Amino acid sequence: MKVTIVGAGSVGASCAEYVAIKNFASEVVLVDIKENYAEGKAMDLMQTASLMGFDTRITGSTNDYSKTAGSDIAVITSGIPRKPGMTREELIGINADIVKSVASSLIEHSPDVTIIVVSNPMDTMTYLVHKTTDLAKNKIIGMGGALDSARFKYRISEALECPASDVEGMVIGGHSDTGMVPLTRLAARNSVPISKLLSEDRIQQIEEDTKVGGATLTKMLGTSAWYAPGAAVSSLVQAIACDQKKMFPCSVMLEGEYGLEDICIGAPVILGAQGIEQVVEIELDDQEKAKLQASAEGVRKVNGLLNLQ
Ligand code: 2OP
Repeated sequence: MKVTIVGAGSVGASCAEYVAIKNFASEVVLVDIKENYAEGKAMDLMQTASLMGFDTRITGSTNDYSKTAGSDIAVITSGIPRKPGMTREELIGINADIVKSVASSLIEHSPDVTIIVVSNPMDTMTYLVHKTTDLAKNKIIGMGGALDSARFKYRISEALECPASDVEGMVIGGHSDTGMVPLTRLAARNSVPISKLLSEDRIQQIEEDTKVGGATLTKMLGTSAWYAPGAAVSSLVQAIACDQKKMFPCSVMLEGEYGLEDICIGAPVILGAQGIEQVVEIELDDQEKAKLQASAEGVRKVNGLLNLQ
């Protein structure tokens, strides 16, 4: 199983580290445009192999996509991260051209690759890969909901003072500070709905904190977060690489599901060896449906900024 990660910055390198430690991939190739940067990160990570007990071979490449040939899965994290006070959408001007060219280079050397898009604004970047490549719909996945759901579960576990592993929760909709739809009605601690365990106000606060989870960390760190994003995308890589048939909310091209089409937005999907093996339509109440529609309008506005000629 060969995995390529484009962008050896904090998110890409964290993803490489988690993929290696999980030890399901034979090879990870880190790619960056900065001379020797990916090679250095790869060597540093390989020097943890005897300590962390993995056999995965991690190599680096300075923008030479021939080294990525035959990749089964490729993660695109390249582009600029946001700074405090910026929205993810403000990155589109620079990141769109980068993502388009990276996707094309990846596919040139690995025609059957499954691509996971992380670069922001992620829903629109995922849509861009659909519109500018011939890759099959099931092989283009946007990572946002897995991260947002992890933050949602963290906030619930914080409120319940319980392990996050006790918590079930999912965030759908756009991966944006205003467009996320945390499904608080369905969230639970070991099947006990959180509405039985927490006040309305506290649940409202959890919803708000989840939506700005990324911006909160960007303010604290001075740049985008990387541990949880890297871990979230490594979970998607593992689900595909190991054919786990696991359900995650991912940005997926909808063709009528949830009453939406020609848009990439966070929805529950089953991930396995074929990439997106099923889009799962869960029953939403009227309020959740309205929030998802509003979120889709926000994503479409950003898609409208793309130059798809
Ligand atoms: C985040 O929410 C980078 O969009 C990513 O942290």
